[in-house]
Amino acid sequence: MKKLITLGEFIIENESSFPYATGELSKLLNGLRLAGKMVNHEVNKAGLVDIIGGAGEVNVQGESQQKLDVFANDKFIQAIKNRDIACGIVSEEVEEFITIHGSDSSNNGKYVVLMDPLDGSSNIDVNVSVGTIFSIFRRITPIGTPVELKDFLQPGSAQVAAGYIVYGTSTMLVYTTGNGVNGFTINPALGSYYLSHPNIKIPESGSIYSVNLGNYVHFPKGVKNYVKYCQQEEGSRPYSLRYIGSMVSDFHRNMLKGGIYMYPNDTKNKKGKLRLLYEANPIAFLTEQANGKASDGYNRIMDIVPSEIHQRIPFFCGSTKMVEKLESFYSQ
Ligand code: AHG
Ligand code: MN
Ligand code: MN
Repeated sequence: MKKLITLGEFIIENESSFPYATGELSKLLNGLRLAGKMVNHEVNKAGLVDIIGGAGEVNVQGESQQKLDVFANDKFIQAIKNRDIACGIVSEEVEEFITIHGSDSSNNGKYVVLMDPLDGSSNIDVNVSVGTIFSIFRRITPIGTPVELKDFLQPGSAQVAAGYIVYGTSTMLVYTTGNGVNGFTINPALGSYYLSHPNIKIPESGSIYSVNLGNYVHFPKGVKNYVKYCQQEEGSRPYSLRYIGSMVSDFHRNMLKGGIYMYPNDTKNKKGKLRLLYEANPIAFLTEQANGKASDGYNRIMDIVPSEIHQRIPFFCGSTKMVEKLESFYSQ
């Protein structure tokens, strides 16, 4: 029988390979792991109790919130605050960045956390997989001073860790600290995460494309032409179309099987729909760490210097050869 490694053990064993390791990043990851368990428990109950449906609030993007968005947001914020390690948080569900004051009301945390507490939330009430996405940076302002906007507006290439939890047929936490990508699955009987997918690599090419084809008429010409290419009969094409509508789940499948995920800008969403800081950047970091590629159609996602915390971006990621092909259609 193979030796079982829990996420807790893995984090400790790999701490020393992380530059500037002081154990603090591990504590932060532990907090996220714990909040993920709580959200997992709640998501699993969603069909049983009267928790589904709008919470009567509209989030900062003008979308109606579901109760579990609020629950997940609260749990993750609490888990991060309790650790005294981060000095600030950006959440999809909160308009301004959150300043964290330590137990002695100082601002000594080294890290900032950016997150989408519940991704794909429109899928909850139909029992389809959702997820949580997180991205972690070291702050750039001095420790002890108040956290500032510029601490959050760093390019994705400066991320020290990123990951997601997918609440699916089984619940998994997948993360990177810049040393490859590893996936852990919860054993529901024990409530522990076990290393189930070590050193994940995205196949160089695949046969899946994932995109909301309902928006096709509004897509830029380059994307329309790439979609036509995916549908042509030649070699391994036509590709299979797979689209869940929860980016975390669509990305997770494509990372394991090979494929491309696309959310272009269109005439409805002129700048794209997905958020750079807590959707595109963390997924881009994971993608590159798994040997894949993430792009806005022209540029590497992780090179983009953000100008606002809820900034949107066209997003293409997955198997390197497929994303390169997509970019070639953009440049025509
Ligand atoms: P969120 O639930 O955090 O608002 O994110 C939803 C996102 C993403 O998960 C998904 O891929 C995309 O929106 C789906 O959008 P469409 O319904 O427009 O295809
Ligand atoms: Mn989302
Ligand atoms: Mn969300």
